[in-house]
Amino acid sequence: MKKIYLDHAATTPINPLVYEKMKPFLEDFYGNPSSVHELGAQTKKAINESRRKIASILNCKPIELFFTSSGTEATNWAILGYADKNPDKNEIIISEIEHHATIHTCEYLEKRGYHTHQIHVDEKGFIDLKELENKINKNTLMVSIIWGNNEIGTIQDIDKVRDICKKHNIILHVDAVQMVGNHEIDLTELSIDLMTFSAHKFYGPKGIGMLYKRESIEIENLIHGGMQEKGLRSGTENVVGIIGLAEALELSFQSLHEYKKNLLALSNALFNLLKKEIPTIRINGPEIGKNRLPGVLSLSFDSIRSFDLAFALDKEHIYVSTGSACNATDIRPSHVLRAIKQENIEKTGTIRISFGAQNQIEDIPYIASKIIECYLENKER
Ligand SMILES: Cc1ncc(COP(=O)(O)O)c(C=O)c1O
Repeated sequence: MKKIYLDHAATTPINPLVYEKMKPFLEDFYGNPSSVHELGAQTKKAINESRRKIASILNCKPIELFFTSSGTEATNWAILGYADKNPDKNEIIISEIEHHATIHTCEYLEKRGYHTHQIHVDEKGFIDLKELENKINKNTLMVSIIWGNNEIGTIQDIDKVRDICKKHNIILHVDAVQMVGNHEIDLTELSIDLMTFSAHKFYGPKGIGMLYKRESIEIENLIHGGMQEKGLRSGTENVVGIIGLAEALELSFQSLHEYKKNLLALSNALFNLLKKEIPTIRINGPEIGKNRLPGVLSLSFDSIRSFDLAFALDKEHIYVSTGSACNATDIRPSHVLRAIKQENIEKTGTIRISFGAQNQIEDIPYIASKIIECYLENKER
């Protein structure tokens, strides 16, 4: 039976071209970049070249890029590191629909006496910019906002968020994990202070993320040790991961327009077919178009449990996510679905379909027919 992966917002398979670039660093070039001998120099050079390549793609300085183990680590570091450097301020502003990497980092800081303001979002997931501005006060440490939402696909107007922060002289961290490959990113033009990336969301390897830190911003170390990453993030570098991240980023930027166009076509085709057969189906987040991640479809169905629908699809080898909290045993609607005040939320089942490079438009009728079949078979009567 055919296997259809529709969970690219969770992770993407590695691009074979990325893997080819990584291979020599798994086999032949194994030197520790901190070693003084030739083998060390080889891997050190490869890291430096990767950093320069990434900087030129994102239009920033190489010294503004720091490799981490994940997007989660980059976000933890951005928030905790800036808090530790600026102990005189103790209020953080985030939105209601942040990734848990942000929410749980702020909850951790709350145990240390910090206060988090969660800015409300409207029914499409757009943050209330007036509320954001009103919440800024003399105790505000920073603002941290998710740019493209991993669950409902909402793309925030990050220029407006940045302008508000700049007007009040508050630094801004942006979680851009879902944006690479789906949107232009020019760090000089964007003029944002801190930004989080993660390679496994754009066909790079797992276990490697990156924090962009504007040169003038100071943050405290999260990890202490051998002084790697300009003394700010110690630990022997994940050389092969760094090579993979740089290559995956380059390939994603090269194919940006084509990739987006394909994802939009897949999203539109599937939604139109489903809507014809299940008129009550709803799409969460903005309309398919420029304010939404092109491949992310959060779909709600009446009178079914998210998990039952996802599980039925799993049995058909169609892999999607649910719109529930983090795990299979917790079936409450997620904080994001609660934030957009979904109608009849307790009786609604939500799945997230996220398309990617290997999905084909020819498969859409099959996918639609399986979703319809699984829905009708599992719907509560
Ligand atoms: C928006 C967003 N931020 C952060 C993360 C965390 O990234 P990582 O999986 O690299 O820790 C994810 C991953 O799901 C994400 O979707």
